Amino acid sequence: MLGEFNNYFWPVLVASITIIGIIGCYVLLKLTGKKGPENDDNSTSGHVWDGDLEEENNPLPRWWVGLFVITIIWGLIYLALYPGLILTDGYLKWSQLGQYQDEVKDADKKFAAMYKDFGQMDLEQFINNRKAKKIGKKIFLNNCAQCHGSDARGTTSFPNLTDHDWLYGGKMIDIKSSITNGRNGVMPALASIGTKKDLWDIAHYVKSLSDSKHHPMKALRGKEKFGICASCHGADGKGNQSIGAPNLTDHIWLHGESFEGIVHRITYGINNEMPAWNDRLTPEQIHLVSLYTRMLSKDNH
Ligand code: HEC
Ligand code: HEC
Repeated sequence: MLGEFNNYFWPVLVASITIIGIIGCYVLLKLTGKKGPENDDNSTSGHVWDGDLEEENNPLPRWWVGLFVITIIWGLIYLALYPGLILTDGYLKWSQLGQYQDEVKDADKKFAAMYKDFGQMDLEQFINNRKAKKIGKKIFLNNCAQCHGSDARGTTSFPNLTDHDWLYGGKMIDIKSSITNGRNGVMPALASIGTKKDLWDIAHYVKSLSDSKHHPMKALRGKEKFGICASCHGADGKGNQSIGAPNLTDHIWLHGESFEGIVHRITYGINNEMPAWNDRLTPEQIHLVSLYTRMLSKDNH
């Protein structure tokens, strides 16, 4: 009930004010378009200022009335064509969204020819084509930088795309697949595999894999419990790109390297998501931004 009230209150209020405004204009015109009340010789309104300054009793000039009438008629035509009253769509069915979509369609058509050439490029051609690089960079800055950073170096939980440490692989085909279909890195919550102390021991073992600071005895105990982790991260801890399980031996940490953090991740698991772009970018745009991403990591050889 209240929802319905809210749905209608503002549109009805706006429409009423608009219509009353137009009617008001018409009434004002009627009242002032005629001569004022009759008086003796009917040439002045009877108002006198400073002794001799009199107000003549003339109707509004015709051209002025004409402008007013045009304004009112224009207002009515506008309201009939466009959704000015909010309550109706208007005869032209115009909407901001519709106009935007038409413009996007036009732009897509305009750029289609240009993108067609770029859609076939290989990395070498891309690197030597300034225009293609510029567009690839623009697509990246507009769509990817908010998560991966404008330099693509990422931040906690958002991977660095320039460092050769790939969760899902760094070949063109892998990168393109990451972008086209998105990725979802899932590590289950594994609190049940041991006591809190066991989880700390495992964290020490994880740290030992990259030769980071750790307690050797605790790490040794943790190693015994690593079996379940090995099913995804590999017996050697080097990860598995088919499911995006990170390499734990390279001292590159996606989610942070503190003991507390690692224990937290084992306890509660991780669900990390990269959105899919197949419905937001064209295949050619995905190709270009993949080349751009690939180039960034190539530069870092
Ligand atoms: C909303 C945040 C977000 C946006 C926007 C985003 N990404 Fe990602 N991206 C991620 C996350 C998070 C991951 C890691 C997913 C995982 O851990 O499973 C990721 C992973 C990737 C990977 C795989 C990295 C690897 O190591 O294998 C690539 C490649 C990538 N993104 C490229 C892009 C490109 C190109 C764009 C723009 C078209 C983009 N991303 C936009 C969040 C984002
Ligand atoms: C079912 C597969 C699976 C199992 C089992 C698993 N993990 Fe993971 N783990 C993953 C995935 C996938 C990620 C990456 C999540 C993401 O995309 O952000 C991950 C991430 C991590 C990270 C974060 C790495 C970083 O760079 O910050 C650590 C640490 C980790 N796992 C340790 C463990 C330990 C220890 C165990 C065993 C107790 C374990 N994992 C069991 C799949 C698994």
